[in-house]
Amino acid sequence: MLDGLVKDSKYPIGYHITPLSGLINDPNGLVKYNGVYHVFYQLNPTGTIHKNKHWGHIYSEDLITWHRAPIALAPDAWYDKDGVYSGSAIIIENQLHLYYTGNVIDENGEKHSYQCLAVSKDGFTFEKKGPIFEHPQGFTRHVRDPKIWYDENQACYYLVLGAQRDNLTGTTLIYRSKDASVWESLGDLLTDTSQLSQIGYMWECPDLIFQNQQALFIYSPQGIEACDNCYHNIYQTVYLLGEFKENHFIANGDMREVDWGFEYYAPQSFYDENRVISYGWMGVTQPEYETSMPTVAEGWVHCLTIPRQLSIKDNQLYQQPVEELKALRNQKHEVTISENSTFMLDSSRLEILLNQPQGLANFRLAIDENLTLQYDAKAFALTLSRINWYTNNQEERKTYLNKPLTKVQWFIDGSVSELFLNDGQSVASARFFSSYVHDKKLEVNFDSSVEQKMTIYELNPLTVTD
Ligand code: FRU
Repeated sequence: MLDGLVKDSKYPIGYHITPLSGLINDPNGLVKYNGVYHVFYQLNPTGTIHKNKHWGHIYSEDLITWHRAPIALAPDAWYDKDGVYSGSAIIIENQLHLYYTGNVIDENGEKHSYQCLAVSKDGFTFEKKGPIFEHPQGFTRHVRDPKIWYDENQACYYLVLGAQRDNLTGTTLIYRSKDASVWESLGDLLTDTSQLSQIGYMWECPDLIFQNQQALFIYSPQGIEACDNCYHNIYQTVYLLGEFKENHFIANGDMREVDWGFEYYAPQSFYDENRVISYGWMGVTQPEYETSMPTVAEGWVHCLTIPRQLSIKDNQLYQQPVEELKALRNQKHEVTISENSTFMLDSSRLEILLNQPQGLANFRLAIDENLTLQYDAKAFALTLSRINWYTNNQEERKTYLNKPLTKVQWFIDGSVSELFLNDGQSVASARFFSSYVHDKKLEVNFDSSVEQKMTIYELNPLTVTD
């Protein structure tokens, strides 16, 4: 967003949510309340390290024009003094209820977490109500990130928490309440994990979503080992499909990556009438990559993803950019690409579209030779590679589609890349720091043995005001 420190940055980001200054991480408390979309987010307003977490706040009526609001929650109570950690929102009797985790380090250096509530009558000023229940037994202090929802059929509230057991394995806990006041612990959300190939040592940011009688469980496990083309990032975000029955989730298969790119993490979803919208954090990475991100020297770091609409199709998760983003389209370029075609664009904010219902031919598409997407039509394989800003080495992520690639929709926003394939069947995010971004232009190089048509839109930034 072109305000705060980002406005004069060498690496401006125009249509992703960024902090005014400091560090942004998980999206929190996503909700549409009285016709207004509220996006809260983990924020260290005074530094680019993971300390001093507040809930930053921004809101919009159309997801395009945004307004900055004062910080919603600051770490100023005994139960959250070392961080107002992640959580979620729900509207109860027309009041906005925020559930979050308070992080506390005591005088002996021991860490504690508290699940807390804050309530608002207007969506902008919050009254903290303090911890809502005791920390459960049998778990380390890593119990956090409450996600709450209301179950119409059973007329009760549910709340899930990411957790680590004393034996250092990850899980999700589930609680139930008739009145969102007295909570009953129901144990693990998944009583049977035999479908899962790996568990990991901690699950963060659990999120349960219901669509057409199916349940979708998204969570961010830590401690998952890389295998084949999957799980090569430091931490993962995965999903399970299945059923929510008698207070528990029954998976109908193994976990799968939500995004096969580089930094995607800790997403959260919310219902907007009939659609489910999700924001993720871009994102989580090795500590040395994070501290050497070029924007750190400017006093800010990271962004959220664009809003993605989630759906379940053919037993898979689909994620599409929300329709509203089409309003950002400005100058349109229709080009024919063949062998080694190069275009210089006067904008670093692009949406690149390739569409071939019969299936696209092999291609290589490079943004400033820093970020490259390559398609192998025989194997339905895609490779996304970039030059890492810390190591200066090329690194890649790869995926295999289960059908031909017919559509590419690639969003570039300065140093941010989000790639949507086959109408959201497969999605990959990445950060990249190209030299051209300094000049606010981009070189797109396309190489294909067959002539193909490509559309490139230059995109406007989001409008942002105080
Ligand atoms: C995920 C996470 C959450 C925690 C928050 C703290 O990125 O570690 O589990 O609540 O960030 O900022």
